[in-house]
Amino acid sequence: MKLNQLLSAALAACALSGAVAGEVEVLHYWTSGGEAKSAAELRKMMQSKGHTWKDFAVAGGGGDNAMTVLKSRVISGNPPAAAQIKGPAIQEWAAEGVLANLDAVAKAEQWDASLPAVVASVMKYKGSYVAAPVNVHRVNWVWASPEVLKKAGVAAMPKNYDEFFSAADKIKAAGLVAVAHGGQNWQDFTTFESVVLGVGGPQFYQDALVKLDQKALTSPTMTRSLETFRRIKGYTDPAAPGRDWNLATAMVMQGKAGFQFMGDWAKGEFIAAGKAPGKDFLCAAAPGTANAFTFNVDSFAMYKLKDAAAQKAQGDLAAAIMSPAFQEVFNLNKGSIPVRLNMKMDKFDGCARLSSKDFVDTAKSGGLVPSVAHGMAISPAAEGAIKDAVSQFWNDDKITVADAVKRIASAAKTN
Ligand code: GAL
Repeated sequence: MKLNQLLSAALAACALSGAVAGEVEVLHYWTSGGEAKSAAELRKMMQSKGHTWKDFAVAGGGGDNAMTVLKSRVISGNPPAAAQIKGPAIQEWAAEGVLANLDAVAKAEQWDASLPAVVASVMKYKGSYVAAPVNVHRVNWVWASPEVLKKAGVAAMPKNYDEFFSAADKIKAAGLVAVAHGGQNWQDFTTFESVVLGVGGPQFYQDALVKLDQKALTSPTMTRSLETFRRIKGYTDPAAPGRDWNLATAMVMQGKAGFQFMGDWAKGEFIAAGKAPGKDFLCAAAPGTANAFTFNVDSFAMYKLKDAAAQKAQGDLAAAIMSPAFQEVFNLNKGSIPVRLNMKMDKFDGCARLSSKDFVDTAKSGGLVPSVAHGMAISPAAEGAIKDAVSQFWNDDKITVADAVKRIASAAKTN
C-alpha cells in the first residue's frame, strides 16, 4: 500500500471506531503510597481507551502546593486538561470562565440520577456540570495501633474525650507517642474540626465553622473546643512540626504511636502497606462524633481546551471517573467510599461499610457536615485565614484560649 492509501485506511478505521486518541494532562496531589496506587487506576483506565496520560503530580498533602501551581498555569494561559479541585473552589474557577461544560457526558451517563443531590450541586455551576466526583472521604476518624493499645493496657477505642485522654495517658506512660501528628496547617485543622464536632456536635459545627456565625465562634463551646484541642497537643512528639501526614500514619503502622486523627486516605496507606483493618489497625469515629460525618468529596474539574482530541479525552476522563468499575477499584485503594449511589459494597472492609452507613444515616439526621479543613465548606480565602489562626494557636503556647477565640472570630470575617 502506498502512503496515502495507508493514511486513508487508518483514518477510515478511526472514523469507524469513533476513536480519537488524545492526551490528558492531569494535575493532582496524590503522591503517597495509597494515593499513588489510586491515581494509577485512573491512568490505566484512560490508557485502555487509547489516550495518553500526562501525570502532573504536585506533592503536598491537602493540595495547597498543587493549587498554587494550578493558578500559575491557568493565569499563563496553559491549563492542564483536568485538575483535582473541590468544593467552593470549583465555583470560583467556573466563575472565571475557564472550565469546560460536562453536560453532554453527564446527560449521557445520567449523573443526576447517580449522585446525591448535595454532591451534584457542588459539581455544577449555573446548572451545568463542570467537575466529576470520584469519592466520599470521611474526615472525622481516629486511627489506632492495636499493638500499642495492648501494650498500654487500653481495652477499647475511646468514644469520648474522657476516654481518649485516659487512653493517651496510658500510652504515654508506656513510653510511646500517644498521638501521631504532622504539624502542617491542614493537618492541624483536620484535628481541630474533629474536636469542634466532638465537643459541640453537628449543629454547633455548622454554626461556627460553616456559617461562621460570630455568636457561635465566640461562645463557651468554642472555648471548650480550643481547650480540648490544646490538650491533645501535649500528647504529640517534638518531631511533629512539618511532618507529612503519611509519615504520621507510618508511626501508627509501625507500633510507635497509638492514635492519629486523619481522614480515611490514611486507610489507603495502611492498605497499600498490606495491613488489614481490625487486625493491624483500628478505625473509629473521632471521640464524640459517632453520629456525625464530615465529608470531603474529591473531584476533577476540566479546563477549556481548543484541541478536539483533547476535548474527547476530557469527556472520556469524566465518563471513566463516574463509571461503577472505576468508583469501586479507586475507592478500594483510596480508603474512601464511592460517591455514586447504589454501589455494591461487598468488596469493601468494615471501616468503609461503617462510613457508607453513617453517610446515609447522617444525611437524614442532620449530622452530615462539610469538612472545612478539606475545602468543602467556605471560601478559600476565609478557610486560609481561619487555618492560620488555628495553627498559630497550636504552635504557640503563649497564645491564650481567649485570645485564640478572638483571632479565629476575626479571621472568619475574611472574604
Ligand atoms: C485531602 C484529599 C484526599 C487526600 C488528602 C491528603 O484533601 O481530599 O484525597 O489526598 O488530602 O493528601
